[in-house]
Amino acid sequence: MTSQIRFLMCAPNHYDVDYVINPWMEGNIHKSSQERAVEQWEQLHHILKEHAIVDLVPPQKGWPDMVFTANAGLILGNTVVLSRFLHKERQGEEPYFKQWFEENGYTVYELPKDLPFEGAGDALLDREGRWLWAGYGFRTELDSHPYLAKWLDIEVLSLRLIDERFYHLDTCFCPLANGYLLYYPPAFDSYSNRLIEMRVQKEKRIAIAEADAVNFACNAVNVDHIVVMNKASEALKARLADTGFQVIETPLTEFLKAGGAAKCLTLRVTEPVREELHANVSVESRIIRIEGHLLDSGLINRALDLITDNGGSFQVLNFLLGEQRQSTSAAEVKVSAPSHDVMESIISHLIDLGAVDLPQDERDAKLEPVTQAGVAPDDFYVSTIYPTEVRIKGEWVKVQNQRMDGAIAITQSPKGLTAQCKILRDLEVGESVVVDVQGIRTIRKTESREQRNAQEFSFMSAGVSSERRVELVVEQVAWELRKIRDAGGKVAVTAGPVVIHTGGGEHLAQLIREGYVQALLGGNAIAVHDIEQAMMGTSLGVDMKRGVAVRGGHRHHLKVINTIRRYGSIAKAVEARVINSGVMYECVRNGIPFCLAGSIRDDGPLPDTEMDLIKAQTEYARLLKSADMILMLSSMLHSIGVGNMTPAGVKMVCVDINPAVVTKLSDRGSVESVGVVTDVGLFLSLLVQQLQKLTSPYTAKVS
Ligand code: ARG
Repeated sequence: MTSQIRFLMCAPNHYDVDYVINPWMEGNIHKSSQERAVEQWEQLHHILKEHAIVDLVPPQKGWPDMVFTANAGLILGNTVVLSRFLHKERQGEEPYFKQWFEENGYTVYELPKDLPFEGAGDALLDREGRWLWAGYGFRTELDSHPYLAKWLDIEVLSLRLIDERFYHLDTCFCPLANGYLLYYPPAFDSYSNRLIEMRVQKEKRIAIAEADAVNFACNAVNVDHIVVMNKASEALKARLADTGFQVIETPLTEFLKAGGAAKCLTLRVTEPVREELHANVSVESRIIRIEGHLLDSGLINRALDLITDNGGSFQVLNFLLGEQRQSTSAAEVKVSAPSHDVMESIISHLIDLGAVDLPQDERDAKLEPVTQAGVAPDDFYVSTIYPTEVRIKGEWVKVQNQRMDGAIAITQSPKGLTAQCKILRDLEVGESVVVDVQGIRTIRKTESREQRNAQEFSFMSAGVSSERRVELVVEQVAWELRKIRDAGGKVAVTAGPVVIHTGGGEHLAQLIREGYVQALLGGNAIAVHDIEQAMMGTSLGVDMKRGVAVRGGHRHHLKVINTIRRYGSIAKAVEARVINSGVMYECVRNGIPFCLAGSIRDDGPLPDTEMDLIKAQTEYARLLKSADMILMLSSMLHSIGVGNMTPAGVKMVCVDINPAVVTKLSDRGSVESVGVVTDVGLFLSLLVQQLQKLTSPYTAKVS
């Protein structure tokens, strides 16, 4: 009893598991023994009295969890921030704790109503007093952290809890003397783990295993070299002994049934202030506004989930519900994030959903000059496929060349100001680039359910269809292709060699011949295999009619490459009647432009294959310009490349036997893209058949 350290405890006279507000309490209602609880509590009390002074707050009938004094509030020096319990089951404890603090000379700060904060259960001082670790995610709201920083004048490091078993910071995190830290890393998100690792050097971090964590080993009381806890494995005891700590185990199993142990049952009321340190809080908040069919389309759920999934928290400030089915709703949401980085990533995701950053509404986008050609300033805004506008000198300017993963470059010319998406390598000195996330908005069509259903691509809206829906999709695609062709529109096709192997070559050739395709994008292989089939009847040495490997056939494709190289190009080989059918033949014959982008594994390559990938990308982009629809046929590489270059609004049909490819491509969050998981040869044959059906009544009439 040498130290001046004091703890506050509350005797378990009225303790019981009476309700369920954390996973530990489940199945334990009235299952704890009063007698054993008293015994265990007294044992803890006894141990602590040997190392510190213990004050007592009178227990209150009807408030069974009041034994957990850690949740009374957070103390630093003479100041206390009173808890605001999340659950009404515990809110009644607040006035009793408040009274005790006031009677004992503390200045009591109270948080705004509806801003939950659960005291020292969720806020732990570094034992050297350098900063405050504050938890959020279950009981405490991130927005309370800035208040802690302000009132206690201390730096606050926010940690996000993600495992509901460890719902309070003190259940999985325990700062120890000499800068040591006992903790259970999986209870935190990765950002928080990084923060911990940045502040506590490796030798000082004692990460515990799950078996110890569920015994509440982190819920420990540390006085100098003593660490009091419910239970510790031999390994943990040894580990702590190595660093100079002595574990005192004292069973607290009756309290575990309510989700608490040693630390929860105590509140350290003497926490010296370090005068030289001051507040510093990195929690940021912003208000965003989002409009549309928020409920109907699930947009609001997506927006709110996105905020928490990315480590932020939110408060819906107001929600104006559209009164009629066709009217839109609007919501204003306050978003908080533990740091500027996290905030930026959340806001840019929200912008993708069509939200606007409210105060930013009146602020211009931030621009920074390009100082090195082909390199953007740090922190540049990464563009998406959605129509975007940036606010410059008070005006919203539409961004041109919308594409994914570019920077938004601003150029000022006598004709005026232009904003356009550019890939990094195309940035030029003299341009400015939009940085940060302010003054940017994306225009998202938010259709109501009815409007969506009225659209042709609706039934497959941004979904992946299964086999049995293939025919339905084919019908829709055929109809769409007809419409585009008749209107003089543009369809681009990306295709992989699988088109040929699966027997789809003749059908694709037919589509080209009949004017349904205006550009073809692929690699070396599709052309090689197509020509091999045209010249030798095999594809990679397999006889396409009989489906069997031809002797020596594996050399066919090299012979083909060699022949075309002799002629100098595919077109010249067609001219010389060396190639008389197939996909490439039809392209040449019908003047359909194609681009074959090379890769490291190409044999040959064909003289037409563009091995300079920068040139190939540029050519792809040129051929894709103002396309109305893109058919992506079994080529992950080329299809994803194309997807990135294509703004929202272009209909994309992705056909692949591999669902992963289809999901990746159709998951652009736009209604216009659709995935079909099926054999591409089958798809093409059905498509051609369907187009014939569309044609025949018409042909019948003329004849
Ligand atoms: N049953 C209490 C609750 O769920 C347990 C509190 C434990 N306290 C703590 N500081 N972790 O609120």
